[in-house]
Amino acid sequence: MQTGTNATDPREFRSALGQFATGVTVITALDDQGQPRGITANSFSSVSLDPMLVLWSLGRGASAFEVFSQAEHFAINVLTLEQQVLSNHFATNDHEQFKGIACSNGRAGVPVLDGCAAVFECETEHRYDGGDHVILVGRVQCFSYRDDAQPLIFHGGQYARLGDG
Ligand SMILES: Cc1cc2nc3c(=O)[nH]c(=O)nc-3n(C[C@H](O)[C@H](O)[C@H](O)COP(=O)(O)O)c2cc1C
Repeated sequence: MQTGTNATDPREFRSALGQFATGVTVITALDDQGQPRGITANSFSSVSLDPMLVLWSLGRGASAFEVFSQAEHFAINVLTLEQQVLSNHFATNDHEQFKGIACSNGRAGVPVLDGCAAVFECETEHRYDGGDHVILVGRVQCFSYRDDAQPLIFHGGQYARLGDG
């Protein structure tokens, strides 16, 4: 068990943040050539019901930083427990990302992954500086969901399922 406070150690800060359990999403968008890109993100959060706004944070060091920070549209694909493999897949960019991935084109042509717990298709509304991340606020243009799926959970740097521990 690790307890206490430490205001200077970034690893400890990361560990403390990791105590906040989240779901896992894959954010998708098109690059300026119209090619699909995806990145795993657990920084997704709801913002506003009216208007419908959501946000996620994009690391400035991400290889797809230019793509996602400049995209006019993006989709948030909320993963189910069965989709953990997609979380690992889209956490790296050293392969043809969408080869063999079951998906369709959303309203703005952005890839929408099959079988997700929920999908939010967004137009980028705001971009805010967030230190080593950029905070991207999206206006939801359409969404879908299923209520029979077990969500994929991320906690303490590991995947988990509801009811664990
Ligand atoms: C569960 C999980 C959650 C993540 N959340 C975010 C996130 O919210 N924002 C982000 O920019 N990167 C996030 N990442 C990291 C990226 O998915 C990716 O691994 C990172 O950008 C390095 O890949 P790259 O070298 O291809 O850019 C997350 C990774 C994992 C596995």
